[in-house]
Amino acid sequence: MSSAALIAPSLLAADFARLGEEIRKAESGGADWLHLDVMDGHFVPNISFGIPVVEAARRTTKLFLDTHLMIEDPLHLAPEFAKAGSDLVTFHVEALVPRAQRALRPRGWALERELSPGGLSKGREVIAAIRGAGKKAGISLNPDTPAAAIRELAQEVDLVLVMTVWPGFGGQKMIEDVIPKLREIRGFFPGAWLEVDGGVAPATIGRCATAGANVFVAGTAVFREPDAAAAVNALRSAAK
Ligand code: DX5
Ligand code: ZN
Repeated sequence: MSSAALIAPSLLAADFARLGEEIRKAESGGADWLHLDVMDGHFVPNISFGIPVVEAARRTTKLFLDTHLMIEDPLHLAPEFAKAGSDLVTFHVEALVPRAQRALRPRGWALERELSPGGLSKGREVIAAIRGAGKKAGISLNPDTPAAAIRELAQEVDLVLVMTVWPGFGGQKMIEDVIPKLREIRGFFPGAWLEVDGGVAPATIGRCATAGANVFVAGTAVFREPDAAAAVNALRSAAK
């Protein structure tokens, strides 16, 4: 993929007491997108923020809002997050099947093989609901979920988000064993955006870019650095 790297700072690592300022800092620092991590305390063992924060971000920035739903019920809520002002809404493939059909890994849910027919049709419904609200749609998969689980839905979305940490918390170390999955997905994903999320830093971003990723989520590596513009530049040049 020859398209330029897009840097998407994750608001999860920002100072929540000063969200407006933090968003402007990312914007003036040269961020391409703003990544919004929504957690419901069920799909992941943590709760972050919801619709009011997405609406507030929408009021305060023109940045492309990249909403990452780590929630059990994307069918009901994805369109609400679309209407709240997201430009793109990404949901998890694991959330499309009942919990009994998922493997509980030490730190999260995974699908062990392809998506069931029921999961596939639910995924199509979620995509249609997001598109019905006029927004772009993405599909995400956890570190232990094989690429095969998203093969069919990848033909129907604008973005694939590959988790390189177990979702739920910022500031984790990248699980580098997941990087080959980026290349595998690039082999069957015709869309423009292959996004990597979790532990992205100047030291790890280059390998992800080489494997085919072109959208890079970075929470800690932008918001916990003293100079956001320098941090965005460091990521962009390390991705080249
Ligand atoms: C994890 C989130 C990530 C996270 C990235 O559940 O999906 O977007 O905020 O944070 P860093 O960049 O700190 O790993
Ligand atoms: Zn995320």
